Amino acid sequence: MIQIRDLYKTYGKGSAEVHALNGVSLDVRGGEFLVLMGPSGSGKTTLISIMGCILQATRGSVKIDGREMVGLPESRLPAVRLRHFGFIFQGFNLFPALSVRENVEIALDLKGVHGGKARDQAMELLTRVGLADKAKRFPADLSGGQKQRVAIARALAGDPPIILADEPTAALDSVSGRTVMEILSSLAREQGRAVVVVTHDPRVLEYANRIVRIEDGKAVTEEEGVAA
Ligand SMILES: Nc1ncnc2c1ncn2[C@@H]1O[C@H](COP(=O)(O)OP(=O)(O)OP(=O)(O)O)[C@@H](O)[C@H]1O
Ligand SMILES: [Mg+2]
Repeated sequence: MIQIRDLYKTYGKGSAEVHALNGVSLDVRGGEFLVLMGPSGSGKTTLISIMGCILQATRGSVKIDGREMVGLPESRLPAVRLRHFGFIFQGFNLFPALSVRENVEIALDLKGVHGGKARDQAMELLTRVGLADKAKRFPADLSGGQKQRVAIARALAGDPPIILADEPTAALDSVSGRTVMEILSSLAREQGRAVVVVTHDPRVLEYANRIVRIEDGKAVTEEEGVAA
């Protein structure tokens, strides 16, 4: 699904250069729950952002379904993002002035689903993450775990084949963290999506098919997870 070869990313210029990625190679397959771990500053967020076409690489290759993304003009990237990816990043990024259901509807709107159809699909997605009863509430009324589940419902808008999550359980207590991991792993297991999760959370290892360790901007080790 995603094939990454010899990927480099350098931030800044001259004496301010930071070499965030130093030749990463990695494959992401459909139906797998892939976990990226590694020390702070090792390049995990950079890698997942380039994977999701949010950030451009300095050099190397990122192929999605066989098509090269590195070097595509910036103007082509939004369409690629919308077609292939659902994002769950830290901090939930919910709109505080919109209800839970409207937060999901807005994501559907971006993917071309409008009106009554968007309302129905938003309710379906909220049901899938166990939050149908909170549809009319606002983000401020929800717990951290519930907000993260809204973020998952939103990431599923438009049925993207790949879900990318950066530290989705970082702000959550252990029960909510577990619920979020269970939902994410079911997306891979039952729905055949590729789910890539960056985390420091050792609890996630129970759910992983594969764990790749990133250090100094490289993939250094790879092992099978409990769910492999
Ligand atoms: N926009 C930026 N400009 C300059 N340097 C950056 C930028 N973003 C990240 N970096 C640097 O690139 C390196 C990799 O950062 P990145 O955020 O990918 O690490 P990470 O593995 O996600 O860390 P953490 O576990 O703390 O989230 C770090 O040295 C960081 O300081
Ligand atoms: Mg990070």
